[in-house]
Amino acid sequence: MVPSRLGHPNLGLGIGLRTTHFPHILTQHPVVDWFEIISENFMDSRGRPRHVLNQIAERYPVVMHGVSLSIGSTDPLNLDYLRKLRNLAREVNARWVSDHLCWTGVAGRNTHDLLPLPLDEDTLAHVAARVRTVQDFLERPLVLENPSSYVGFATSTMPEWEFLSRLTDQTGCGLLLDVNNVYVSAVNHDFDPFEYIRNVPHNRVVQFHLAGHTNCGTHIVDTHDGPVVDPVWDLYRLAHQLTGGVATLLEWDAKIPPFQVVHDEVLKAKEYMTGDLPIRRQPVALPVTTDGVVPTPLSFIRAEIDGAAAHPAGIY
Ligand SMILES: [Fe+2]
Repeated sequence: MVPSRLGHPNLGLGIGLRTTHFPHILTQHPVVDWFEIISENFMDSRGRPRHVLNQIAERYPVVMHGVSLSIGSTDPLNLDYLRKLRNLAREVNARWVSDHLCWTGVAGRNTHDLLPLPLDEDTLAHVAARVRTVQDFLERPLVLENPSSYVGFATSTMPEWEFLSRLTDQTGCGLLLDVNNVYVSAVNHDFDPFEYIRNVPHNRVVQFHLAGHTNCGTHIVDTHDGPVVDPVWDLYRLAHQLTGGVATLLEWDAKIPPFQVVHDEVLKAKEYMTGDLPIRRQPVALPVTTDGVVPTPLSFIRAEIDGAAAHPAGIY
């Protein structure tokens, strides 16, 4: 049987907390299992967002999800950032704290993109040491998410699932398995997403992410701007079976519809927790965007932090 997700409970089906839904949540108190917050949207704020968050945290379980830890960078860890992270986690009783297996900048510059790492022995040792430091500072296991990626390093010597498996072994950290990211990267890099799901350490998976994406024809961009597509639901069903079921969170960060639409989308997960539905091994035809520029998934985050758009999606 699959062990215990580092002792964390299965919180059920949650959605990402976004400011556009604040009025609905505060007035309607919808029946939602839990919320995930973007840590950076609240850790520097003492204004209304923090006030609203505290009200929500009194009523719902809250999990913190960050985008600025830069665990793979060669810059020193930002202890001021970690201190704010720890304080916010205590304040909202965060069930766990997560970030991404990536680097976001170097030499003091933040690109606000989740950049891929060379997946080799040196990087593994480097990241493992930093994960241990972060965990000591936060006084809790860190939970790391597999990123979506568009380029990779030719010098990589192992698949991402092996890197994550060894990282969890060496550090005791948890995994946030973003099933949509697995699919996006699988298409972009032409690997088997089912093999990836089968090979991550299932007893270390604390949480799932689900999201929509944008098919650009030659590649897929992780835009979080629509419903979850069928091939991702199929991967989710396999992941659910192999892990025994863990807290599941829907990310919807652009073209955000009314609260109930987002909530209904994540509730579809219940249909995929049974063994009745067929697994479609071939991706269904996806809508292809003809737009010239697809926004980076992180644009909305920076917009909430400092009121300015991040930058064009040049990395893609
Ligand atoms: Fe995610």
